[in-house]
Amino acid sequence: MDKKALEALLNDMSTEEKVMQLVQLSGSEYEAAAEITGVERGQAKDNVRRLAGSTLGIWGSKRLRKIQEQYMSEHPHHIPLMFMLDVIHGHKTVLPCPLGQGATFDPEAVKKGAEMQAKEAAADGVHATFSPMADLCRDARWGRIMESTGEDKLLNSRMAAAMVEGYQGKDLRDNAHVAACVKHFAAYGAAEGGRDYNNTELSEHTLREHYLRAYGEAIKKKPAMVMTSFNSINGIPATGNKFLMKKILREEFGFQGVLISDWGAVGEMINHGFAEDQRDAALKGMMAGVDIDMCSGCYSACLEELLNTGAVSMEMLDEAVLRVLTMKNDLGLFEDPYRGLSMDGPVVTEESRRLAREAVAASLVLLENKGNALPLRKEKIAFIGPYADTKRLQSSWAFSGEDENTVTVWEAASEVCEPENRRVATGCTMLDQDAVTAREICHEEDWQEKNDRLLAEAMSVAAWADTVVLCLGEDSTQSGEATSKARIQLPAVQLHLLREIKKTGKRIVTLIFTGRPLELMEVRELSDALMICWLPGTEGGHGILDVLTGKVSPSGRLTVSFPYTVGQEPLHYDMYPTGRPKPDEKGNYPYTSRYLDCENGALYPFGYGLSYTSFAFTDPKLSAQTMSVRGAIAASVTVKNTGSRKGSVTVQLYIRDLTSSRVRPVRELADFKKISLDPGAEEEVSFVIREEMLRFWTAEETWESEAGKFHVWICNDSRDGEPLEFQLI
Ligand code: NOJ
Repeated sequence: MDKKALEALLNDMSTEEKVMQLVQLSGSEYEAAAEITGVERGQAKDNVRRLAGSTLGIWGSKRLRKIQEQYMSEHPHHIPLMFMLDVIHGHKTVLPCPLGQGATFDPEAVKKGAEMQAKEAAADGVHATFSPMADLCRDARWGRIMESTGEDKLLNSRMAAAMVEGYQGKDLRDNAHVAACVKHFAAYGAAEGGRDYNNTELSEHTLREHYLRAYGEAIKKKPAMVMTSFNSINGIPATGNKFLMKKILREEFGFQGVLISDWGAVGEMINHGFAEDQRDAALKGMMAGVDIDMCSGCYSACLEELLNTGAVSMEMLDEAVLRVLTMKNDLGLFEDPYRGLSMDGPVVTEESRRLAREAVAASLVLLENKGNALPLRKEKIAFIGPYADTKRLQSSWAFSGEDENTVTVWEAASEVCEPENRRVATGCTMLDQDAVTAREICHEEDWQEKNDRLLAEAMSVAAWADTVVLCLGEDSTQSGEATSKARIQLPAVQLHLLREIKKTGKRIVTLIFTGRPLELMEVRELSDALMICWLPGTEGGHGILDVLTGKVSPSGRLTVSFPYTVGQEPLHYDMYPTGRPKPDEKGNYPYTSRYLDCENGALYPFGYGLSYTSFAFTDPKLSAQTMSVRGAIAASVTVKNTGSRKGSVTVQLYIRDLTSSRVRPVRELADFKKISLDPGAEEEVSFVIREEMLRFWTAEETWESEAGKFHVWICNDSRDGEPLEFQLI
């Protein structure tokens, strides 16, 4: 349909029809109706169901075809229903969770992963995914850190942009792609105390320079949608926040697509104390420019009345509806409302497995490798722990991934280790007694008895082994939405298992499965090798064994700081300097900015990760000592693989503006390159520094660079390297 035809359609629609395009209903409304009784007539709810413009949370070509047929037959203008779903790290084939994908430092691979997810989701009738999540996350207590690519704005920007490109492809009409939704706008990751849905307080410069950046870069790739966040920001709920939605999103970022609220967020403005009732909430949502009300019921209940009283103008309504119709049109739904539904449902293929396996191997972050405990030797290996043979390797969002397709660590080990050299034991329960997850309190009657038995089994398996691969971690329901934690240790029952195994004196390789940074001081002490495996998804077992056996050398880097203790949170490497910096050297410096009982920085910092080989960085240099505003400087370093194995290394460029009208972070990632080198091979890695990279939100509230000195590091992680200096003139 062309624009004229769309406008003609809009003009022909009744007010009720228009309003309902702005209403999103839960898929469960349609599931039950379509499969049990069909759409009932005469009740308000059914009326909404008959006309609501979109739904979420259901997939499957047969199911959706049935719903679409019924819906189309009843819709006065036969406008198709739009199906949306959270496909955040996989549909059928599940990739590592976004935090793991971030650790690959490989936006191209992440884009390919998004393409695969889109293809699978589209073949299951899905039109739009609620991804990428571009929220900047600095707080390990916040469970949704798992859904992000971490604490750095540049990395997040590249990853979110890559995901939008991957999901949407060149043309949304192409059946192998889906619409992307950049979320959660804005600053959802800065929830106070790391408590989900909580208020955020941010100065405008921190908001602009850090928190808004990744959304902005992702929006440049023209995602079909943006989602508002649940939080209030500086006292105003994001969903009713005109400054964010109108000034920044529409005016400054030039976003022209559909703005959707998060689930119930329009109505939640009442709980925030920002709207009086549903009617007021609907008004405030509309005034902020929220096009679709996801599941709060405020628009469906009150928008017509608001139009009748003149509080909302028809022009405003038309604008919002036209955006929704345009999205449907861009997806090709008017030509083919059954888009994707005639295809066979998606299946896990050899190709999708290969992609997922490579992604897993690239996402693993090796934190310790004492005495070259890894790669594994050909000897007796015991795989012990609640993650040793579980299919629960995906996050709570990957609801469409199936256990039967998932390869556990033990299953993969069974393919590569000789039967006489491998044994397995669960060791303990995943959770402590009475642990609370997002959805339940886990209470097992015979918890203690069970753990006594599991431990005894594990101890005898460990006694047999030369090396124990200990597979520990948080349960997959302990990260994701509504999973904030004030303690970020491993479950006590798992720590107990580790301590007991340590007593056997066997070599311990600890694998940590997690959706957030954890406190790992004790684990580090008791382990010979320590590797973060995130929530690795369908090919978890294979990707992990590829690295354990040395087929692939680990190359993942942390994109979030792992703290010594939760008391350091929120923690991030790109902090602002203080007037009383803590000196680097050891010693007692009483009146400086420091903790009495802990380091300031992370136990494992941003950008950190080991390999099985070693890399030497030599001859870091800048092509000039001064740079003019229109000029550029090359920053380069020679990287040599000095070990005996092939490996990949992520070379990182950091910059600090030494003096400026507003304090600037002690270091900021300005670029990165991942290269692969054979043993003995070397390569010069070069970056270009331009003036745009030096701009910031100045004291004058403009995006500008300021003349002066800058430090540059070309290094291996956010704490590494000696600075070079240049001057911007
Ligand atoms: C709530 C979550 O905050 C959001 O990320 C998700 O996309 C929606 N629910 C829909 O499931």
